[in-house]
Amino acid sequence: MNGRFITFEGIDGAGKSTHIEWFAQQVRARGVEVVVTREPGGTPLAERLRGLLLTEPMSVEAETLLMFAARREHLLALIRPALARGAWVVCDRFTDSTYAYQGSGRGVPTDRIAELERWVHGDLQPHRTYLFDLPADLAAQRRADARAADRFEGEDIAFFERVRNGYRARVDASPGRFVVIDAREPIDNIKKLLQDSILSI
Ligand code: TYD
Repeated sequence: MNGRFITFEGIDGAGKSTHIEWFAQQVRARGVEVVVTREPGGTPLAERLRGLLLTEPMSVEAETLLMFAARREHLLALIRPALARGAWVVCDRFTDSTYAYQGSGRGVPTDRIAELERWVHGDLQPHRTYLFDLPADLAAQRRADARAADRFEGEDIAFFERVRNGYRARVDASPGRFVVIDAREPIDNIKKLLQDSILSI
């Protein structure tokens, strides 16, 4: 695998989506092939699972398993082939989201998630993860200005505080993989930080 696997994470409303395409353009400008994708999603089947995950009421166990089912498809059909040919894969959310949302947010035991992680992609981890960090109440204000809420975005502030803390635990467990971005910073400052960080990936 010659490529690089980069993920973007954060609670809903932290603003990561604004920066992903721009980041991809910066890397492309260096002459590298970049594939931008997202989770859950990224293949026709995984996008159908996304539709179910964002709208259908379901048990937390089914939610967790479907996240990993979508992830397995995504890895086999898109992420691994792209990395194998030397491309950089820039993914909007990955397994850190499952630890934060299903684990810290909904209470799925961490060792269950770790077991699924090992099964689905034990030998592959992101080379770099950008975490957009923002207090849950500010993120809620930003979301209120955007579109209609899906099944996750409709959760209360306490849920998103737990998710935020879950992300922090992920950073503490693998500090070398993460760049934590204060999402309250002006957009231009965040762009500069992203730009400067590319060389160290
Ligand atoms: P999101 O990036 O917020 O999509 P959009 O910006 O289009 O709304 O992702 C969709 C939701 O999926 C988000 O609320 C978090 C949730 N999610 C999980 O709960 N667990 C996971 O493992 C993943 C990948 C996403």
